[in-house]
Amino acid sequence: MVTLDKAFTAEGSPNIALIKYWGKRNERLILPHNSSLSITFDHKALRTVTSVMFSKKLKKDIFYLDGKKQDLNDRDIRERFSIVEKMRRMAKTPARVIVVSQNYFPTASGLASSASGIATLVYVINKALGLGLNAKEMSIIARQGSGSASRSLFGGVVVWNKGKRHDGKDSFAQQLFKEDYWPQLIDNIVVVSTSKKKVPSRAGMRTTVNTNPLFKQRASSAQSRLAEIKKAFKAKDISKVAECTIADSNEMHALMLSTIPSIRYLNSASYAVMDAIDELNAREGKAIAGYTFDAGPNANIITISKYQGKVTRALSRLKKGGMILYVKTSRLGEGPRILPESRSLIKKSMLGR
Ligand code: DP6
Repeated sequence: MVTLDKAFTAEGSPNIALIKYWGKRNERLILPHNSSLSITFDHKALRTVTSVMFSKKLKKDIFYLDGKKQDLNDRDIRERFSIVEKMRRMAKTPARVIVVSQNYFPTASGLASSASGIATLVYVINKALGLGLNAKEMSIIARQGSGSASRSLFGGVVVWNKGKRHDGKDSFAQQLFKEDYWPQLIDNIVVVSTSKKKVPSRAGMRTTVNTNPLFKQRASSAQSRLAEIKKAFKAKDISKVAECTIADSNEMHALMLSTIPSIRYLNSASYAVMDAIDELNAREGKAIAGYTFDAGPNANIITISKYQGKVTRALSRLKKGGMILYVKTSRLGEGPRILPESRSLIKKSMLGR
């Protein structure tokens, strides 16, 4: 049942892909060329909080992101907001909605804010509209807002299966391992820049698919690496997980670099982080940490508790040199959850009445 004039709030977290999604076989439905694998962050480390309220008293939809009112006529925002329309149609209600969303981490800096934003939005709207969708169904809707968002509906280790169907009904994420599966696993989120990325991932991956002759090999290479990293997670083999993670990040960034025109998200600080981790692994004689970068210069470094001290020391040298702004750590986290009514972000002044 649709609940009107009552605010619902949820929190959810971004995810970091260790096997990357870069390239769509269907742009409208957001269907990827290859399956991908990610880990979901802990709500304590990075999170999005989103409140929604449906009301017939609202004249039009209102959307606040990080304290700023958004222009729903903007193409990018409208495209992503279309999932709201989809869910409203499913609930057969004409009520307009106010959405207030707050990211507790830098937006558009390659930290996958759209993933947690959209996953949390779908999750909280499902509740407000009483749609009763399960996580798989929510993942399919979130995917159509942003591909990586399909994975943030779940906690722990998550795989987004690319699917084969043309209608996308078999392209959704699933949990591979729960959030308590590997408590020793740590992700170091290394922030080297908080500025907005130059090329949005949507446009960037389109150019790669259209112009890069090397893209042909990407799907089969990602699929076989996915099989390898799944085995490594099953065995809790950090060296194998780290090796696959590094290889897949480098492969994606090599594809970006060889796109025409070339797309480059990494900067000198990113390369300094890569050097530091490569050197650490070489000193240890095996991979004890793995780096990965999304569409931005910030790094994620995965390791396990017993090696964390070594990773911290390697990074603190770069921090002293001014290369790194800050480092946050996260364990495997949960999927989205509903928060109590008292946590609503909707203020009377935002309703514009
Ligand atoms: C590099 O999910 O943001 O983070 O589907 O066009 O919204 P759209 O793209 P998006 O792309 C994420 C790309 C990536 C890799 C990944 O998360 O798998």
